[in-house]
Amino acid sequence: MYPLRDFLIKSKRAVFLTGSGISKESGIPTFRGKDGLWKQYDPSKLASISAFLDNPALVWEFYRYRQDLISKCHPSRAHLAISQIQKEKENSWVLTQNVDNLHNQAGSKNIIELHGNIFRISCINCGYNDNYNVIMGVPPRCPKCGDVLKPGVVLFGESLPQKDWAKAIEIASSCDIMFVVGTSLNVSPVNILPSYAKENNAVIVEINPELTWLSESADFSLKGSASDVLPKIHDLLKCG
Ligand code: OAD
Ligand code: ZN
Repeated sequence: MYPLRDFLIKSKRAVFLTGSGISKESGIPTFRGKDGLWKQYDPSKLASISAFLDNPALVWEFYRYRQDLISKCHPSRAHLAISQIQKEKENSWVLTQNVDNLHNQAGSKNIIELHGNIFRISCINCGYNDNYNVIMGVPPRCPKCGDVLKPGVVLFGESLPQKDWAKAIEIASSCDIMFVVGTSLNVSPVNILPSYAKENNAVIVEINPELTWLSESADFSLKGSASDVLPKIHDLLKCG
């Protein structure tokens, strides 16, 4: 861990690229793997833009179920450790694929939610967006144009919000250390962000109990749960 400590201390821009594994210990299932959500549910029927256009009520039912589950969950030790590290590393960023709002709740700053936020809504007709409110009903209607509102998340078949994606590339391309936490790196385009960091000669630190395609080329592949490993990374900043 000591060479990693030096890199972290010297780092001028640290980035945390996170995926669903970081929220596992908060009680939110991951998507792939043994107990993954996509083992139980078919994303093409429940989480794609074509499914939403065919049957918005069904897609909303799925997202309301997930909202309910997520709203009972709290940030894990991993979310909290990142927020603590960020207090000491002012220029650091969180680029997350998660829609669960837990980085926000943990007090992180400089967060880009690349796949949106499950507690928001957006209108594909007029662009209206706001926080979701249970009184809106299912499926909610746009107060501006009356069209059916979409959950404020990126569905399969949709592009990432252009501004956020451009900003994420800029941040990844200018970081000197990138922690890749709890993601299988299966989903494009987010899974190319480590390559932008590498082009800038950033140190790549993967934190995951399983190997991914990145593990072999990462500078540090730390096999373990994010909730065990990230507090130790925070401790590195403390010991003199
Ligand atoms: P995945 O479910 O694909 O991957 C979760 C990763 O977390 C796996 O590599 C696990 O090994 C790892 N993991 C499990 N437990 C962990 C723990 N305690 N600590 C650290 N890592 C752990 O989830 P994502 O890569 O986030 O997109 O999936 C990316 C996107 O695919 C999601 O944002 C979602 C999904 O379909 C959309 O819905 C558009
Ligand atoms: Zn509208």
